[in-house]
Amino acid sequence: MKPQILEAIAKALVADGKGILAADETAGTLTKRFERLKIPSTPESRREYRELLFTTAGSPDFISGVIMYDETIHQRNSRGIPLSDILLEQGIIPGIKVDTGAKPLAGAQGETVTEGLDGLRDRLREYRALGARFAKWRAVFRVTDRLPSQVCISANAHALGRFAALCQEQDIVPIVEPEVLMEGNHTIGRCSEVTANVLHSVFNALYEHNVLLEGMLLKPNMILSGSTCQTQASRMEVAGATLRCLLSHVPAVVPGVVFLSGGQSDVMATKHLDVISRISTSKPWKITFSYGRALQDQALATWLGNENNYRPAQQAYYHRAKCNAAAVLGRYDATMDSRFTGESTSAHDSDS
Ligand code: 13P
Repeated sequence: MKPQILEAIAKALVADGKGILAADETAGTLTKRFERLKIPSTPESRREYRELLFTTAGSPDFISGVIMYDETIHQRNSRGIPLSDILLEQGIIPGIKVDTGAKPLAGAQGETVTEGLDGLRDRLREYRALGARFAKWRAVFRVTDRLPSQVCISANAHALGRFAALCQEQDIVPIVEPEVLMEGNHTIGRCSEVTANVLHSVFNALYEHNVLLEGMLLKPNMILSGSTCQTQASRMEVAGATLRCLLSHVPAVVPGVVFLSGGQSDVMATKHLDVISRISTSKPWKITFSYGRALQDQALATWLGNENNYRPAQQAYYHRAKCNAAAVLGRYDATMDSRFTGESTSAHDSDS
C-alpha cells in the first residue's frame, strides 16, 4: 500500500467543483432500465450507451471519475480503444464496481448482505492493470420500525472493511457505500437514527481492518424522509440533518463524502446537494456527488437507443453534470433547469 498514491487519487476524485458518474449498473439492472424505454439490451447497445456518456464533450469539466461495471471496463470502442483509456485521455479517473450484489442474509429475514469478497484480490489486480484507480462496494439497508437488524449492519460493515483493506493493498481507493434506502414510510428522524448506527459500525470495521481513512471516500445516502412518509422534510431539514449526522460519524481525515442519489429525482438530488453546500457550518471533508440515476435518467430517456438522439442525450447528461457541479459549489440556480431545452447546437454550452 502506498499512502501517497491513495491520498492523491482520493483528492483528485473530489477536486473542486467536480463529482463522480456512477455508470456501474450491472448488465441485468441496465437491461431493466433499457426495457422500460424499449431499448434492446445487448453488450453492443450497452457499450454504445456508456460511450455516449464517456465521450460527452465538456463533461470532464464536471466529472472527476466514472465507476464502471466489469463488462464495460473490458469493452473497446469501434476503433479498438478501451473505454477506460477514453476516460483517461480526458483526465477522468476510471473506477470499477467490485461487489457482486446484495444477497439474502441467512438468519435475517428480508435483509441482505453484499457479496464479492472471494477472489477479490486477484480481480483488483486485474482491474488495476485495466486502468482502474478506485473501486466501489455498496451495502444496502432496508428501514422499518425494527430493521435494519444488528446482524445485517455488522455483516455488511465487516464486508466493507475487508473490501476497503483489499483495495488499499492494491493501491486502489475504496469508495465505501453503505446505502440506507429511501423506500419506506419512515420519518427523516428514523433515517438519521439508522444512518448514524450504520456509519458507526462501518467506521468501526474500517478501523479494525486498518484502513487508511485518508485514502478512501465515503458514499452515503442523504438523510431523507422515507419515500412514502406522510410528512416530507424540507430541503433545509434534509441538509441540516445530513450534515449533523455526517459530522457526528465521519472522521475529519476522510478526504471526501460523495453522495448517492438513491432514487431522488434528478433535480431534487441537485437541490439537496446545493443546500448542503450552502450551509456555512465548517465541513472537514469535501462534499460532492457520485450519482447514477440522477445524472443519467434524462440522458437515457432522450437517447432511446436511437442514433439521431445521440447529441441531445449527451447535452442532457452535460447539463445535469453542470447543474450538480454548480450545486457542489453552492451555486445552483433553478433557472439553470428552467432554461434548459436540450435543443442547443453545442453540447458544451447548451445551458450557459
Ligand atoms: P444512484 O445515484 O442511482 O443511487 O446510484 C449510485 C450508485 O452508485 C448506487 O450504487
